[in-house]
Amino acid sequence: MRRIHLVLVGLGDIGLKAHLPALLRSDEVEVVGLVDPSPERRADAVAMTHGRVPAYADVGEVRGLAGVDGVVLATPPWVTPALARRFLRAGLAVLAEKPLATSLQESRPLAELPADLRRRLQVGLTYRHDPALARLRTWIRDGPLDGPLLVRAHIYDERLDPADPTHAARLRTTLEHGPPVVHEGAHVFDWLAFVLDAAPARVVDAWAVCTDPGAGLPNLNGARLVYDGGTTALVEFGWLTHELPRCELSFLGQRGYAVLDGFTFRLHLRSSAGEEVVDDPVDRTTRCFDRQLAAFADLVAGRVDTAVPGIAEGLASLELSERVAQLARRSEGD
Ligand SMILES: NC(=O)c1ccc[n+]([C@@H]2O[C@H](COP(=O)([O-])OP(=O)(O)OC[C@H]3O[C@@H](n4cnc5c(N)ncnc54)[C@H](O)[C@@H]3O)[C@@H](O)[C@H]2O)c1
Repeated sequence: MRRIHLVLVGLGDIGLKAHLPALLRSDEVEVVGLVDPSPERRADAVAMTHGRVPAYADVGEVRGLAGVDGVVLATPPWVTPALARRFLRAGLAVLAEKPLATSLQESRPLAELPADLRRRLQVGLTYRHDPALARLRTWIRDGPLDGPLLVRAHIYDERLDPADPTHAARLRTTLEHGPPVVHEGAHVFDWLAFVLDAAPARVVDAWAVCTDPGAGLPNLNGARLVYDGGTTALVEFGWLTHELPRCELSFLGQRGYAVLDGFTFRLHLRSSAGEEVVDDPVDRTTRCFDRQLAAFADLVAGRVDTAVPGIAEGLASLELSERVAQLARRSEGD
C-alpha cells in the first residue's frame, strides 16, 4: 500500500520537537518535503531525517512536488491562514496548528472557503485526542462529576528562562500578536467545550496583567465564564514569569473532585466511590501527536469525510479567546 505523502511546513519549536518525530514514527506516512525560510532550521530538520527528505525555503516550491497528499502547517498563527487557504485550494488536506489565526477577522480567508474544502482542514488542537479528556467527559456526563461544577484552569507553561533568550524572544514576538489567552485559549477552550459538551453562556469578566518589562504587553490574563446549568469556569493563562504557578485544570462538583495535570494530563479523581487515576505511560506529546497524525491520515486517505477537530472547533475556541482578550482590554481601560 502506498504511504500518504505529506510535507511539513514550519520547522520551528513544535515542528521539530513534535510534528516531525510523529511523522517519522508513522508507518502510514512518508514525509516528502520540509519547508522553512530559516537555513538553520532546514539543516536541523534534514539531519533528523538522515538526509533523506529534501528541504525548501519557500512553500511555492512544494507545488512542483508530485504526489503530495497533504501538508502539516506548524507555522505562527499570523502566517497560517493564507498558507492553509492556498494548500486547500490546491486540493490538499491540511493539518494546521492552533490557533488558526490571531483573530476571527484574520481567519476569514478560511471561514469563507467552500464547505468541501473547509472539511479537509484539521486543526492542531492536539490534546483533544488524549484519552484522559474522554474519561473526564464521561465522569461529567454520567457522574460523579455531573451537576454544576467549579472549573479552575490554570495554564502557566512558559517560564522565563534567562539562559534561553531565544525562547523569550519567540514568546515576546507571539505576544505582539495577542495576549496568552489567544494562543493558549485555543487548547483550553476546546478542552472545556469537549468535556462540558457546551459553550459558555457568558464571559462575566476578564483581566490582563503585565509583569514582564521585556514584553511590555500583558503576559498574564484570565476570565470568568458561566454555563447554563450553573457551572462556572475560572481560567488563567500566564507566560514569562521567572516562577510559574501550578499548571492544572480542576473540576469540583458536589460528589467529586478531579485534577488534570496541565503538562502530563495525568488525571486524578476523588469521589465517595474512592479514587481513580488515568495515567498513560507514554508521554503526552508523543501519544497526542501520534493520535492527531493518525486522525489526519484517516482524513487524507478518505476513511473519514470531515476533519475533527476541524474548522468549526478551531473557530469556536478562537472566537471565545478573542472575546476574552477584548473584554480584558476594555477592563484595563476602566
Ligand atoms: N499543538 C500544540 O501543542 C502546540 C504547541 C506549541 C506550539 N503550537 C503552535 O504551533 C505554531 C508554531 O509554534 P512554534 O512554537 O513552533 O513557533 P516557532 O516560531 O518556533 O516556529 C514557527 C516556524 O515557522 C516558520 N515559518 C514562518 N513563516 C513561514 C512560511 N511562510 N513558510 C514556512 N515556514 C514559515 C518559522 O521560520 C519558524 O521556524 C504556533 O501557532 C503555536 O501556537 C502548538
